[in-house]
Amino acid sequence: MEELDDGFLERAHDCAGFLRDADDLLLISHIDADGLTSAGVASTALDRAGVEHETRFSKQLDDEDLDGIEEAGHDAVLFTDFGSGILDEVLTRNFTPVVADHHQPATDAEAEYHLNPLLFDIDGSSELSGAGTAYVLGRALEGEDGNNRDLAALAVVGAVGDMQNQGGGLSGANKVVVREGVEAGVLEAKQDLLLFGRQTRALPKLLEYSTDVFIPGVSKNSAGAKELLEEAGVEAKEDGNWRRWVDLSEDERRLLTNALFSKCVENGVDSSEIEELVGETYTLLEEKPGTELRDASEFSTLLNSTARYDRADVGFSVCKGDRDEALAEARELLRGHRRNLRNGVEYVGDNGVTEMDNVQYFDAGDEIQDTIVGIIAGMSYSKSCVNRGKPVIAFADVEEDGEKKVSSRATKSLVRRGLNLAEVMSECSSAVGGDGGGHDIAAGATIPEGSVKEFVDEVDAVVEEQIS
Ligand code: C5P
Ligand code: C5P
Ligand code: C5P
Ligand code: ZN
Repeated sequence: MEELDDGFLERAHDCAGFLRDADDLLLISHIDADGLTSAGVASTALDRAGVEHETRFSKQLDDEDLDGIEEAGHDAVLFTDFGSGILDEVLTRNFTPVVADHHQPATDAEAEYHLNPLLFDIDGSSELSGAGTAYVLGRALEGEDGNNRDLAALAVVGAVGDMQNQGGGLSGANKVVVREGVEAGVLEAKQDLLLFGRQTRALPKLLEYSTDVFIPGVSKNSAGAKELLEEAGVEAKEDGNWRRWVDLSEDERRLLTNALFSKCVENGVDSSEIEELVGETYTLLEEKPGTELRDASEFSTLLNSTARYDRADVGFSVCKGDRDEALAEARELLRGHRRNLRNGVEYVGDNGVTEMDNVQYFDAGDEIQDTIVGIIAGMSYSKSCVNRGKPVIAFADVEEDGEKKVSSRATKSLVRRGLNLAEVMSECSSAVGGDGGGHDIAAGATIPEGSVKEFVDEVDAVVEEQIS
């Protein structure tokens, strides 16, 4: 059974000891699903320990943020889901920092209150998220009678938001978080169909939108999806309304899963791909069934729909337990997000992509917001003009003058052939004076505006090397 490293726990206790007595504390966190849940976990644990604090978010922690914090005159600052990358700069500032992060530290600068799994041989990119790190800190903050194990649910949402549930489920230190959440009765972890929207999507949509694993005759095929429900012998409607996955009995779920498997086998889908249709799923037992908050993956998408539109405050309030106004506002933002995604994918379908030897690309200019162009790049594989055999490189304008946002997405099968977009984005952006990184299957960069052509040529060449 997985256990957390003693040194890591000891460091968490040191940080907690300092925070408990901190005056004028600022909590600042990263503006994405993992960052919002990190702040939710940390802030709740601080509240429970009676530590007053202010909370703020930033897209990317930089010198300007640090200047602002210093000017505001806070004595102590807790950074969550970022901070390790510019730790040496943080340490020169006029406040005491506590950094709870899981990203790669830029230097080997040492700090008394630096809590990062990577310092204790835990892989921060796959085995513990920012929210998981905040959770370890939160557990260290709890008093004699306090019990912060219920915060494991939020920590799992963060891990899922950071795409750490690869290869069938969460792994490593994340498993400790899952176990504690299960023991606390706030989380259920079980093998289930991995399609997005098990709680909220109507069954035909759930099936039709399943493009991570492409199910021939069902994915992107509304009639085919309905037919499959019939073939499986699963009643698709109840009182005239579409049923959802959560509405099905265990038997019905089995029937439908088997029907999906058969469909894949009949159409010659690779068995390694078929296996990816099921995996460990995480249900938040204290949330209402049939809502976005009940499923870790849908919860993290709800949070992204607030953060990507500069409304991290709304997502944060949901993380802090607001189930009225903030939740209603988050749902409104989610509707807008969905609309934007739909329009963005339509835009790609209408305007097409430019195909090169090894990649394809499109430049959305200001037609698609830079914060969601990556999601749209990934979803554009559902369009017939986009070739599943090549990665998609997408460009969008940003507010900052002279810069261009790049997002890239690929399929699992390309990654199996050796593609690593994180390397591609990092290497090719520095070649043109920008910077970037990410995951093998999804990565991004910022480059100088005039360097798009030079950049894609470089990308095309590097991708060729990787997959040949
Ligand atoms: O920070 P970053 O981790 O935010 O990127 C997450 C993004 O990567 C998500 O928007 C998601 O679309 C993409 N991603 C993906 N498939 C994966 C892993 C990440 O599409 N397997
Ligand atoms: O936001 P992120 O890129 O992490 O989302 C990952 C995936 O979740 C998307 O590529 C998409 O397949 C799915 N998604 C969706 N509907 C939404 C938001 C996300 O199907 N409204
Ligand atoms: O922005 P986008 O959704 O394309 O980001 C995909 C992944 O690439 C994310 O994990 C993000 O953190 C990473 N990324 C990065 N550096 C950038 C842009 C994105 O590491 N400049
Ligand atoms: Zn993170």
